[in-house]
Amino acid sequence: MSKITFLPDNKICDAPKNITILEVAKKNKIPHVAACGGEGKCTTCRLLILEGIENCSEETDVEQALINQAHTTSGFRLACQTSINGNITARRLVLDSDDIQHMSFDRQGESKKIAIIFSDIRGFTPFSEKLTPYDVVFILNRYFKRMVGVIEKNHGHVDNYIGDGIVAIFGMNDEKNPAEHAVKAALEMVDEMDDMKPYLKTMYGKDFDIGVGVHWGNAVVGDIGAGQSKKYTAIGDAMNFASRVESANKQFKSRVLISDEVYNEVKDLLVIKDFMRTMVKGIEGRVTLHEVEQIHLTNELKQLEDNQKLSDGYKWNKCSKVDTFESEEQQVFRFNKETILIIKVGDEFFGVDEKCPHMNLSMKGGGINAEDGTINCAWHNTTFCYKTGDVKTWLALSNTEKFMAKMFLKSNKQAVGVLDVEPKKIEIYPTQIIDDFVWVGISQGNQI
Ligand code: FES
Repeated sequence: MSKITFLPDNKICDAPKNITILEVAKKNKIPHVAACGGEGKCTTCRLLILEGIENCSEETDVEQALINQAHTTSGFRLACQTSINGNITARRLVLDSDDIQHMSFDRQGESKKIAIIFSDIRGFTPFSEKLTPYDVVFILNRYFKRMVGVIEKNHGHVDNYIGDGIVAIFGMNDEKNPAEHAVKAALEMVDEMDDMKPYLKTMYGKDFDIGVGVHWGNAVVGDIGAGQSKKYTAIGDAMNFASRVESANKQFKSRVLISDEVYNEVKDLLVIKDFMRTMVKGIEGRVTLHEVEQIHLTNELKQLEDNQKLSDGYKWNKCSKVDTFESEEQQVFRFNKETILIIKVGDEFFGVDEKCPHMNLSMKGGGINAEDGTINCAWHNTTFCYKTGDVKTWLALSNTEKFMAKMFLKSNKQAVGVLDVEPKKIEIYPTQIIDDFVWVGISQGNQI
């Protein structure tokens, strides 16, 4: 059997016929760089053949093209393309024992199709300029917590924070259906933002919005960097393009844009709002971007059929099991654009808009009074009938509370009207129990 002497570690290994040098190295646990995963897409597995070059197999076309492109000097061969039929001595790209120690076959770099999200907060700089650094960090971390939760729930991982922007990648670890999960995450990020806005408006008198761009393409994925800051990440044109897709939101006044590549990958699952053709830096000609309204994940489509039904002018949506309300009497459910709070009072269930019509703040946790059939919004002490939605008391603040609220709002021009909003009913939703599950009805007039 032919033998390979690997330098600089001076290890001698048997090399069966027609097995590439890279495979021999792997089999013998000899650290060998192969950034593209041994697919003949790079020259990082190159070897300097010190003895026995005549025993190496003929250069393949792929190898020839790469060697020419990389301008290597003579005597170099690619380990992933070369097998031997006689002994050779070869030096790898590793330089010393330190190099060897830091190399492994894991995550040395491979070309992979991934989905990428870029998000950016619109108007955050003017918003933050008026705040103390402590407030800025506090708000940003609240924002990040929500967004990261959405990304991770959808099987993505946050790759980087760029100021207030987030870069997230889907499919790095071969998770299933990365493109559809990325679109789902992008839409949920916008929903989270909408959920956060009333809080920002109330606490800071201002809010901001986000733009999200999603792209699906090939990138080089691997451990990049050194020391403590080394991380598993992706580089390449696809990353830059995702950032450009995000930027196009400003031009089109949209919130979630996806590239044509994402669209083609998941078009059967999408509800599209609009599309646009535009120039993107670094790309010749116009590209098509799509503004997304909604996505139904592949595994949700069947579930959706089981969990929704139409009757009496309502779309009925399955919530959760009756007995789950024993431990959690108030539960929130989101169906398309509706966010509904289901409350259990005695043996009955009632559905109300999760957002208080006063300032759109969350009703969850509001006090329930079963005797007069009301739910209270604790933000400004407003009470609604949970059966009809009628207002029972509106902004029932004491004089001291009103005074404090006015003082708080004085410096805050956008929020001064908070105490002057006219009373508005809260939306209510009918419920029914089917097979031990609570279902809630959304009038079809409310559906988009
Ligand atoms: S937000 Fe509910 S009373 Fe103000």
